[in-house]
Amino acid sequence: MQNAKHVIVTGASRGIGRALVDVYVDMGHQVWALSRNIESLQNLKGVHAVELDITVEKQISDWVSSCGVDHFDVLINNAGMLINKPFSETTIEDYEAVYRVNVFGVAQLIRHLLPLFSKQTHIVNISSMGGVNGSAKFPGLAAYSSSKGALGILTELLAEEFKDEGPRTNALALGAVQTEMLAEAFPGYEAPVSAAQMANYIADFSLTAHQLYNGKVLPLSQSTP
Ligand SMILES: NC(=O)c1ccc[n+]([C@@H]2O[C@H](COP(=O)([O-])OP(=O)(O)OC[C@H]3O[C@@H](n4cnc5c(N)ncnc54)[C@H](OP(=O)(O)O)[C@@H]3O)[C@@H](O)[C@H]2O)c1
Repeated sequence: MQNAKHVIVTGASRGIGRALVDVYVDMGHQVWALSRNIESLQNLKGVHAVELDITVEKQISDWVSSCGVDHFDVLINNAGMLINKPFSETTIEDYEAVYRVNVFGVAQLIRHLLPLFSKQTHIVNISSMGGVNGSAKFPGLAAYSSSKGALGILTELLAEEFKDEGPRTNALALGAVQTEMLAEAFPGYEAPVSAAQMANYIADFSLTAHQLYNGKVLPLSQSTP
């Protein structure tokens, strides 16, 4: 396809990430699909399945230096980890595990990819309504929601630091979406939005919204606040 974009999706093996891969491929774009498990991503036309743990910096640097691509147009930082545990039982290891995926991995991946970004590149960080100040909060999500709050501030900082030369960076703070993560964290709860619905919106946003937004954390939820 003429004008095919180079898109990276992290956390591509299941849930919203897996649905995003399908949407971009249907649009005719080239997708680099990153996750630790890549069985579900192999042999798909237009998909470069990359087995990668975003918490391991050496795996990131090795992939970036060998990917053979001269630029990326879109990076969706979608990989996420959720621990649902009463605050009184949480350990430093819980916080470290969650922050390694939701914050540190995001920062390291962006840092290594900077040479392949341009003024037109759009980074979309997938955050959560729970990580937005003043939103409804849920018990058990201290590590998870605070990490998403940090991701929102990181988004604002990157937008400021790269406002002249790019990339542009925004975050979408999602409400509940029906995925494996949600089912594992809140068994029996039924979300009003499917992974495919959300993926359609995120893909469209990623390809257009950087013309209007930079450094914004935008709620994407049917509930208020
Ligand atoms: N579902 C919701 O209701 C909801 C609401 C608000 C925000 N979100 C956010 O939306 C994003 C996607 O959520 P989801 O519900 O689709 O989650 P999910 O079903 O659990 O999928 C998470 C993905 O992240 C990948 N991942 C986890 N750790 C990784 C690591 N260290 N390195 C690389 N990939 C890793 C997993 O793949 P591997 O295990 O194969 O690595 C998996 O593909 C997350 O950031 C989540 O916080 C979801």
